[in-house]
Amino acid sequence: MVMKQIRSYLIAKSYDYAMYSTEKRCLQSWRKELLAQAGGDLLEIGAGTGVNLPHYPDKVKQITLSEPDGQMRRRLQRKTDHFQQKQLSITPWGVDTIEMPDASFDTIVSTLVLCSVPNLKTSLSEIQRLLKPEGILIFLEHVISDHPTTRIWQHRIEPIWGFCAGNCHLTRDTAAAIRATGLQIEQLIEAPMVGTPAFVQRTIRGIARKAVPLAGAV
Ligand SMILES: C[S@@+](CC[C@H](N)C(=O)[O-])C[C@H]1O[C@@H](n2cnc3c(N)ncnc32)[C@H](O)[C@@H]1O
Repeated sequence: MVMKQIRSYLIAKSYDYAMYSTEKRCLQSWRKELLAQAGGDLLEIGAGTGVNLPHYPDKVKQITLSEPDGQMRRRLQRKTDHFQQKQLSITPWGVDTIEMPDASFDTIVSTLVLCSVPNLKTSLSEIQRLLKPEGILIFLEHVISDHPTTRIWQHRIEPIWGFCAGNCHLTRDTAAAIRATGLQIEQLIEAPMVGTPAFVQRTIRGIARKAVPLAGAV
């Protein structure tokens, strides 16, 4: 328990500093371009220290930030003090425990979070439930490598990496999991995350949409 709290404190304290160079070299511009497509009622899962906040366009009406980690949430709270022009709330929900009715959101945002959730399939089902018909999931995630040698290393180091980096998994095929949930991927860009080790370099980003239910479908 104490170990977990120390780890959580250290990760939250060092997160922005550790990501600074990668943010400048690629993530910031990816976030800006992706989040320009957000709108309406928005849920961001695993909002971390709030790095996406400056990129939300005016067409986003209401923002719900979910962040289960108390240390991250403290930092998030500080950042949101500068964004009072939007209707904004912070919750301690994990993605599997979002206390909102079905079809609550037009946009759900997940950036570098689906690697850390305990069960990818359950989390994506929950995202699917929470989206309105035609609503979109905006995602930016690091995924399993397409290089056989890197894959072998990803499998080897995943347990220790997960322990040090807040349950982060290295071997998830997140695009396949999104499709398996029934969300339709409309945009998919693959690119290496600059300035990171090979085992977290391969990323996917894009948009997946929830289909409108067919008339008469149960
Ligand atoms: C690598 S950080 C990403 C933070 C931020 N989204 C970003 O783009 O920089 C992963 C975040 O996911 C959060 N997280 C971990 N498990 C989660 C869960 N089950 N549901 C929601 N968020 C979770 C962590 O607390 C952490 O803030």
